[in-house]
Amino acid sequence: MGDYRQAYDRSLRDPEGFWRDAAEAIDWDVPPGRILDDSAAPLYHWFPGARLNTCHNALDRHVAAGRGDQPALIHDSPVTGSVRTYTYAELRDRVALFAGALRRLGVERGDRVVIYMAMVPEAVVAMLACARLGAVHSVVFGGFGAPELAARIDDARPRVIVASSCGVEAARVVGYKSLLDRAIDLAEHKPRHCVILQRPQLLADLVPGRDLTWDDAVDGAEPAGCVPVAATDPLYILYTSGTTGRPKGVVRDNGGHAVALRWSMSAIYACGPGDVFWAASDVGWVVGHSYIVYAPLLTGATTVLYEGKPVGTPDAGAFWRVAAQHRVNVMFTAPTAIRAVKKEDPDGGLIGGYDLSALRLLFLAGERLDPQTYAWAGERLGVPVIDNWWQTETGWPIAASPRGLEALPTRPGTPSVPVPGYRVRVVDPDGAEVPPGEDGAIVIGLPLPPGCLPTLWGDDERYRRDYLSAFPGNYLTGDGGRFDADGYLYVMGRTDDVINVAGHRLSTGAMEEVLAAHPAVAECAVIGVSDPLKGQAPRGFVVLKAGAGAEPERLAAELVAMVRDRIGPVAAFRRVDVVPGLPKTRSGKILRRTMRGIADGTPVPVPSTIEDPAVLDALRPILTGRPLIALAQDDQRPSETPDASRT
Ligand code: COA
Ligand code: AMP
Repeated sequence: MGDYRQAYDRSLRDPEGFWRDAAEAIDWDVPPGRILDDSAAPLYHWFPGARLNTCHNALDRHVAAGRGDQPALIHDSPVTGSVRTYTYAELRDRVALFAGALRRLGVERGDRVVIYMAMVPEAVVAMLACARLGAVHSVVFGGFGAPELAARIDDARPRVIVASSCGVEAARVVGYKSLLDRAIDLAEHKPRHCVILQRPQLLADLVPGRDLTWDDAVDGAEPAGCVPVAATDPLYILYTSGTTGRPKGVVRDNGGHAVALRWSMSAIYACGPGDVFWAASDVGWVVGHSYIVYAPLLTGATTVLYEGKPVGTPDAGAFWRVAAQHRVNVMFTAPTAIRAVKKEDPDGGLIGGYDLSALRLLFLAGERLDPQTYAWAGERLGVPVIDNWWQTETGWPIAASPRGLEALPTRPGTPSVPVPGYRVRVVDPDGAEVPPGEDGAIVIGLPLPPGCLPTLWGDDERYRRDYLSAFPGNYLTGDGGRFDADGYLYVMGRTDDVINVAGHRLSTGAMEEVLAAHPAVAECAVIGVSDPLKGQAPRGFVVLKAGAGAEPERLAAELVAMVRDRIGPVAAFRRVDVVPGLPKTRSGKILRRTMRGIADGTPVPVPSTIEDPAVLDALRPILTGRPLIALAQDDQRPSETPDASRT
C-alpha cells in the first residue's frame, strides 16, 4: 500500500498540511491562512477566514483558462427524446443570467432557495446560480410527496422556490406544480415567489403575483457576477432521513466542499479535466449534488445529466448506449440499477452492441454492493468495479479503493479501505476498538475531513445529539461492520431505523408516523426487509384499535395510499399486515431488529427481555411466509439472497 498508505498516514498525522496542499487546486479570493478552526470543538470549521465562490470555481475559471468551448454538461433524456450539450461558456452565461433573475426576485447572499425539479439542465443552472450569489440551495427529490416538501420548506424558509411543472417518469408524467402548491398550503412559511420551468409535457397553472415562468424570470435580467463568500458559509442544505419523521438538514460549506470534492475526483475517481464523468443518480440525492454537479465541474470535466432509468427507457441497454454515445470515461451508479439491468439482460448481451472503449472505471455506491452484482458488472464490462461507501452527511467517500492514488485491488463485499482524511474505527458499545474480524459500530474520529457536514441546519444541538454524543470524540456513522486483517472495511448495514430502498434513503420512523395517524391503528411497526432488486423494501405491521371494525384489506389499501401521498412514491411502501400484536421488550420497545432478522432468514437472538414470546411466535409465519395482505403489483416473496441482507 505505497502511495495510498503514505497519503492516508499523512492525512491523519498532519491534516492541516494535507488539506492546505489540496486547497491549492481551488481559486480563492482570500486564500486560506489558518486551516482548521477547532475553537468550538466538537464542531469544527475548515479554512476559517478564507473566501471564494464555488460557482466561479465550477465555471468561470475554466472559461478563463480556455475551456469555454468544452462541453460542461450533456443532458441526455430518453424520456423526452432529447440530447443537448452545454459548453462551459454557455453554462456560465445561463447561470449568470438566472442568478440575475433570482437577484431581481430579492435573493441575496445567505438566502435560501428550494429547488424541486426533474433531471433537467435548469436544475443544475439553478443550483449554480444560488452558489454564484452566495445563496443557499436546498434541492428536494421529485419523488417526495407534498408533506415532505412542506417540512423542508418550513425548515429552510426559502425566499424563492424554483420548480419544474412536471417530472417525466418512464411510465407517467408527474405533476410537480400541483404538489408544490399543496406543499406551500401545508407549510407555515410562504415563499415570496416561485419560478416555474414550464415543460411541454404538462404546463402548470400559475398563482398570480407569486409565480412566474422561468422564461419571464430571465427575460431582461442582468447577468450576475460571482459573490465571494466565507469558506465556512453554507453552500447548500440537503435534507436526509433520520430515525424520526423530521428530516435532517445536512449543511455543506463552500470552502471545505470545493477542496474535498476536487481532491476526490483526482485521488478516488481518477478523473481529470476534459474527461467525461457520468453519475447516473438524481440531483435530489447527495450523489447527484457531489458527482453530477459540483465535483466534475470543479474539475473541468464534462458531466452527463441523464433523465431516464436503467431499464425501460427504452431497454436494459440504456446505460451502455449513454456511455458509448458520450464517450464516458468514468461511470458511477447504484448497485440496484445494475441489478435492474441484470434482471432484464442476465447475460449482458446488450452491452456488446455498444462501443465502451472509452470507459475506464465503474463506481458503485448508495447501498451495500452485493458480491454477485460486483462480479456481474466486472465480468460483463471488463473494467474495474469500485465500491465506495459514504453518506449524505459526508458528501464524498469514506471508504474506497482510491484509484487516482493507487490501484489497490478490490474485493467483493467491501468498499476497500478508509479514504485519506477519515479516521475510521470499529467500536464496541463501550467505544473500545474491536479487533479485525469483529463486528461493531463504525465511527470516524473527529475532526471529519473538509466537505463533511459542519452541522445540521439551524440545529447544532441535534447534530451533537445524533452524531457526536454516542462515542465522544467520534462521529457516529449509523452503519455497522468490521475490518478484516488487511484493513479492508466491510459495511454491513444500518444500526438504526434508516432503510435503503433502491438506493434511496428512507426512514421507517417516518412511515410509522403516517400509519399511526390512521384512526383505526392502535400501534404499528415498519421494517426494511431484503429485496432482491431494491436491496430493501419496507413492510408495515399494524395492530387495530379495539372495536375499530376496519375491514383489513380496505384498511391496508388506505394505509398504502397514505404513505404514498405523505412521503411519496419513492418510499415504495406496498405491503402492510394487520396483526394481533407486536413483539416488545418488557419496557415496551418493539423488537424491530428481531422481526427483520426473521423476515430475512438471518435470525438474530431473541432478547431475554421479551415481554410475551407468544406474540413473536404468532408473527413468525407472517414474517417468513406470504403476508396476510399483499398489495404489491409486482409482488415479491421475501428474499432468499443473503447478500442483500442487513445486520
Ligand atoms: N419524481 C417523481 N416520481 C419518482 C421519481 C421522481 N424523480 N423517482 C422515482 N419516482 C417514483 C417512480 O415513478 C415510482 O413510482 P410508481 O410507484 O408509481 O411506479 C416510485 O417513485 C419508485 O421509484 P423507483 O425507486 O425509481 O423504482 P422503480 O421500480 O421505478 O425502478 C430502479 C427501480 C432500480 C430501476 C430504480 O430505483 C433506480 O434506477 N434506482 C437507482 C437509484 C439511484 O440512482 N440512487 C441514487 C444513489 S447513487
Ligand atoms: P445516503 O445518505 O442516501 O447516501 O445513504 C447513506 C447510507 O447508505 C449509508 O449510511 C449506508 O448505510 C448506505 N451505503 C451507501 N453506500 C454504501 C456502500 N458502498 N456499502 C454499504 N452501504 C452503503
